[in-house]
Amino acid sequence: MTTLGVLISGSGTNLQAILDATAKGTLTAKLGVVVSNVATAKGLDRSRAAGVPTVVVDHKAFADRASFDAALVKVLRAHGVDVVVLAGFMRLVTPTLLDAFPHRVVNVHPALLPAFPGVHAQKQALDYGVKLTGCTVHFVDAGTDTGPVIAQAAVPVKDDDDEESLRARILEQEHALLPRVLQWIVEGRVRVESGDAGQLGAGRRPRVRVT
Ligand code: GAR
Repeated sequence: MTTLGVLISGSGTNLQAILDATAKGTLTAKLGVVVSNVATAKGLDRSRAAGVPTVVVDHKAFADRASFDAALVKVLRAHGVDVVVLAGFMRLVTPTLLDAFPHRVVNVHPALLPAFPGVHAQKQALDYGVKLTGCTVHFVDAGTDTGPVIAQAAVPVKDDDDEESLRARILEQEHALLPRVLQWIVEGRVRVESGDAGQLGAGRRPRVRVT
């Protein structure tokens, strides 16, 4: 069975969706470990309540991102992790982590990438005035929210939305999409195809096929 390692920094509602899906059997994976870079993250209580091994790795204790990531890799490997899920993990990851889990690091982002990457995606959407935003589940590469898109869900922006109401509407979709995509990965249905500049011109990026 595929073992997941989930990295969090905060409330962990996406982690909860993963826990619930594994309990229901709609996600047939084992949660090997939950790692937080924040000792007070509420998500840690969720994993403890579910009996999942829980580790805090405080990024502030490391000289640089790569050595922090090396510590993450050590924890993930020690728990037999196959697939790493960034579920509200608010740190940029480096090749140290990515090379240890090639095409096996998945992120959920609260916007329709490539729109509104980075932090405060909901505020970015409101500030821009888009009528539609959403969430994206993608493989992580060395950029900020630039990796190959696996799946997206659209969410309408309402005239009277504020950041909080929009966040909540997007989160509902994240909670449905992330466990579904993880199950596709578990079933071996998700494949990254390399970019092919020859066919559609330069700049065709690696893309994901779901079968
Ligand atoms: C989610 O909306 C997730 O998409 C976002 O943080 C929230 C975490 O919520 N991630 C990012 O913005 C990453 N760039 P949660 O802790 O309740 O799952």
